[in-house]
This record gives sequence, structure tokens and C-alpha cells, in this order.
Amino acid sequence: MSNRTLIRGGLVITAADETHADVLVEDGRIAALAAHGSTAAESWAEAADRTVDATGKYVIPGGVDAHTHMELPFGGTFASDTFETGTRAAAWGGTTTIVDFAVQSVGQSLREGLDAWYAKADGNCAVDYAFHMIMADVNESSLKEMDLLVEEGVTSFKLFMAYPGVFYSDDGQILRAMQRGSANGGLIMMHAENGIAIDVLVEQALARGETDPRYHGEVRKVLLEAEATHRAIQLARVAGAPVYVVHVSAEEAVAELVAARDKGLNVFGETCPQYLFLSTDNLAEPDFEGAKYVCSTPLRPKEHQAALWRGLRTNDLQVVSTDHCPFCFSGQKELGRGDFSKIPNGLPGVENRMDLLHQAVLDGHISRRRWIEIACASPARMFGLYPKKGTISPGADADIVIYDPGATQVLSAGTHHMNVDYSAYEGKRITGQVETVLSRGETVIDRREFTGRAGHGVYTPRSTCQYLS
Ligand code: URP
Ligand code: ZN
Ligand code: ZN
Ligand code: ZN
Repeated sequence: MSNRTLIRGGLVITAADETHADVLVEDGRIAALAAHGSTAAESWAEAADRTVDATGKYVIPGGVDAHTHMELPFGGTFASDTFETGTRAAAWGGTTTIVDFAVQSVGQSLREGLDAWYAKADGNCAVDYAFHMIMADVNESSLKEMDLLVEEGVTSFKLFMAYPGVFYSDDGQILRAMQRGSANGGLIMMHAENGIAIDVLVEQALARGETDPRYHGEVRKVLLEAEATHRAIQLARVAGAPVYVVHVSAEEAVAELVAARDKGLNVFGETCPQYLFLSTDNLAEPDFEGAKYVCSTPLRPKEHQAALWRGLRTNDLQVVSTDHCPFCFSGQKELGRGDFSKIPNGLPGVENRMDLLHQAVLDGHISRRRWIEIACASPARMFGLYPKKGTISPGADADIVIYDPGATQVLSAGTHHMNVDYSAYEGKRITGQVETVLSRGETVIDRREFTGRAGHGVYTPRSTCQYLS
């Protein structure tokens, strides 16, 4: 029996177009679009099982957050959102697909790491999910395993130039992984910070008694992000491989991406809301409050934000993901009282991304279509999910957000749905709010009530990067 929903009267916004159209959803997919008031649209209205009135609202693709860390083990604790709580919060914020990072620990195979992440997510997610693979142990056998993962739909691999002794890979390991990716289609995602040099500066800072969270920002220098970004790009050139640099925070790192892209290289970059909206001023908040803002790459002085916005406008940065990796202030961030290097790294944000970027539209940083491109279409293309995800077109999954552009809200831990005891954006006023969310045609948020369920979200295998020339 077919199940038809008609979304009527809204402004449909994709990366390509803005049209006043009605959207017909059938059996979990988008069946057709037709101009509002057209004969076709009127005939659908009669046959629909259900009609959603989107008059005065935007009808946008569900967000694709290509960088989350539910339940990530880090610094002796675990990210506080489980797949259940984190994907529910994602739905509240208009994100209907996450790409989370499965982790290979040192001494493990990729298979073992990936299977553990399948098990964590299975049956628990409110929205659809996919995986990248963190490679912490690049060796002959894990390099071979990359081929199998690409075939099974895990088509991207994160390597770390930071965190020696934990996730770190040396340049030889990076080069080998890039060579393998160049052959099998896997995309290398790089955490570009010179972790060996940073560890020296950490040790020296602590020896001087500089233990406050703000020193996290001082030792993780812009130059060491720019240097690592440059090195990652050169290694990728040597390997003949593309590279995607995650969580770009510094103007000088953007400049490296711009220079490479001007040469025509397949070099891609992601930034995150925290680098666009927060700064070292937050890291310097007194009474250890700065710990709430400890993440890596670190927050930068405000002056860097203009370069990130410019990069997003010029497509030198293609994606905004959250790097959602929440740790409660109480009991988790507090592990680093008296030693900033023991503060678990990461910020919550999976629920806030679509709203913050809508605010950026109102603030004049990006256009409405670019909002949808960097938050939906481009991450879907980058990671092989398009056009199933990231757009509103016939055949696509009916992952649709009815967004009220005129509603106002104040971001707060008191009202958010992420399982974390603070908001990185506490008190921030936003114009625009998610009203209703469909995930594969099923209503998971209905006029600001959660109507979804753990287990509705399904694992979604991916093809390889769709941007490679
Ligand atoms: O601080 C961060 N970003 N935590 C998550 C791990 C990573 O490096 O992405
Ligand atoms: Zn209108
Ligand atoms: Zn990282
Ligand atoms: Zn991350």
C-alpha cells in the first residue's frame, strides 16, 4: 500500500534552485515536484494521505553532518552523546544523516574497529547514518583492508598528524594510505596539526605553570596547522591522491587550500560552526569555563573568521560539519583542571548547525542556496551519498525539513536535546527554526515534537567521492 504525503505551499530551496513548489512524497522517497497551484499539484492534494502545510516556510533537504563522534573514547572518557541521543538531537536540528567516525585503535584491524561501530549504532539511531574510518594503525594489513572497506561503503579514512601515541600517523604512513586511497577510490581526511611539535609546546607550557584552558589555544599554533595542511597537500600530490582537510580553523590553513586549488588539485576543506562563531575569547573565559571550548584544531582569534567565511563563499571550503564530540563540563571537561592537556577535546553542535548557518544567511555571510550547499548537498557529494541525500529531487530519499525562517529562538543547554550539560552557544539568538522533519518520509519531528524512534535510522553505505576530476 502506498503512503503519500504532500508538502504544500513552501519555498523549496536546494543548492541549485529556489522554487515555490509542492513536493509529493511516496513510500519514503520524493516522487515529484510541481509548481504550487499547478494542475498537477492540485491533483496530488486530492490523492494524498496527508498534507503538510508549508506556507511561509522553507522546504529544504535534511542536513548531512559529515563529521560526528558519538560515543568516541577520548582522554579516558567517552563523548557523552550515544548514537541514540546524538541522532535524536540531530533530528531536532534538521540533520537527517550523520557520517560518524568508526575507530581503529592501535593493534586492532579496521574490521574490528568498524564492526564495533556498527554494533554501537545498530538499532539506536533516529536518523540515517554512515561511517568514515579512523586509521590509528597504518600497516601492511590495514592498508590492504582499506580496499574491502571501500567496497562495503566506507569510502573515507581519517588520519591524524596530531595526537602522537593515540591516533597519530607519521608521514610515511600517511603517504602509504594516500597511495592506497588513490588506487581504491578512498578519500583521505586529514587532521592537519603538527602534533609532534605541539607536544613539545604543551610540555614547556605546563612546566611554566600555564595550565589554564586558554593555553590549549596558544600551544596549538596557527603555524602548526598551516604547516601540516601544506605537508598533507604535498604528500597527496606525491601520491596522486585527493585530500580532504577536516576542521580547518586558521586563515593560513585556508591559504594553503586556496593555493592548492588554484593549481587545480583535488584538495578539499571543511570548517565547523565553532570556528565561524566562537573564538579564543571563549577559551579565555575565567573559572575554567574555557574548558567548554577546548577542541582541536583550537578556536582562533576572531580575525580568522573572515577568511573562513570567504573560503565558504569562494568554494575553497566546501563543507560545514560540526565535529560534534560532546563532553560534559561536570566530570568530563573537569578532568583537565590544573592541566589543560587533560581536557577531553571536542564541542557539542550536531543540533545547532543548520540554525547557525541560517543565521549566517541573515548576517550576509552566505546565500540561502549556499547554506543548503555547504550543509546538505556538498557533504553528500563529497562522501558519496548524492542525490539520495542532500537534495530535493525525484528519486531522492524524502529527508525533508520544513524550516520556519521567521521563528526566533535562543540556543541554550536548558532547551537543547544533546546529552551534554552546556551549550557552546548559550544565549545566542537565532532567527529561524526547524519546524517539521521527515526522514525517508517518516515524520521524526512534527511541529517541534519528537515523533521519531531509535532504530528508524538505517546504515547507509556510500559510493566514493563525487567531486573527483
Ligand atoms: O577536538 C576534537 N575535534 N575532537 C574530536 C576528534 C577530532 O580530532 O576530530
Ligand atoms: Zn512566496
Ligand atoms: Zn580531528
Ligand atoms: Zn572530529
